[in-house]
Amino acid sequence: MRSRIAPMWDIARSATFAGRLHWNTMPGTFITFEGLDGSGKTTQIKRLAAWLEERGRNVVLTRNPGGTALGERIRGILLDSRTEAATGAITPKAELALMFADRAQSIAEIIKPALAEDKIVLCDRYTDSSEAYQGGGRELGSATILAAHKTICDGFQPSLTILLLPPLAASLARARRRNDRTTHHTGTDENRFEREGDTFYTRIYDAYKTIAAREPQRVVAIEDDASIDEIQKIIQAIVANRLDL
Ligand code: TMP
Repeated sequence: MRSRIAPMWDIARSATFAGRLHWNTMPGTFITFEGLDGSGKTTQIKRLAAWLEERGRNVVLTRNPGGTALGERIRGILLDSRTEAATGAITPKAELALMFADRAQSIAEIIKPALAEDKIVLCDRYTDSSEAYQGGGRELGSATILAAHKTICDGFQPSLTILLLPPLAASLARARRRNDRTTHHTGTDENRFEREGDTFYTRIYDAYKTIAAREPQRVVAIEDDASIDEIQKIIQAIVANRLDL
């Protein structure tokens, strides 16, 4: 195990200098988590938040889509597999526009105010998800998403993105295992994306690989298919290095 993890410590070290080259000039630190459905990022982000809080850091945990009142409503529309029975098919561009409407609200209401107060903002998904899912999965192409990001988000980027991307076969199996995201007691349904097939998820996986190769200073990809505890240790090492913990 040690030998598999060792390269990640090198990545953590090499990411330290590059992390200073970010676009965010506010006092706080903006970190995003990315990956395919079922990549375990929600568990990891919560554990990282607890770990940072134990070290006296002020953490704000949020997600895209969601987080704000408007965003949670948009999330309901986007993720509920029953939406299209009522609305008809959602076009890829309408889907993209809703993702960015959510994000604009999230930046204005949660992310920027928290960064201005010197907090650490951990966001479960951000624009890389739009590039991977709508750009790759829905085949709108990266240029469309990057242009929307520039216009709607003023190009505002995290200083660090943790990308959980185990090998494709394992990623596909996990995405499939999440095929029934129905919460019976609340009646919510978040299955619209999970209904997609392997080719859709393969395009997302490839798009994430392309983003990581294009922006190695910002994006740290964890490609190990290790346990939750092992991955958390790697994430903590990367973040500790960035934040000088
Ligand atoms: P999650 O919050 O449980 O990860 O689910 C969010 C779903 O929405 C997931 O399938 C990825 C998808 N998504 C996009 O397609 N584009 C986006 O820009 C974002 C933020 C999420």
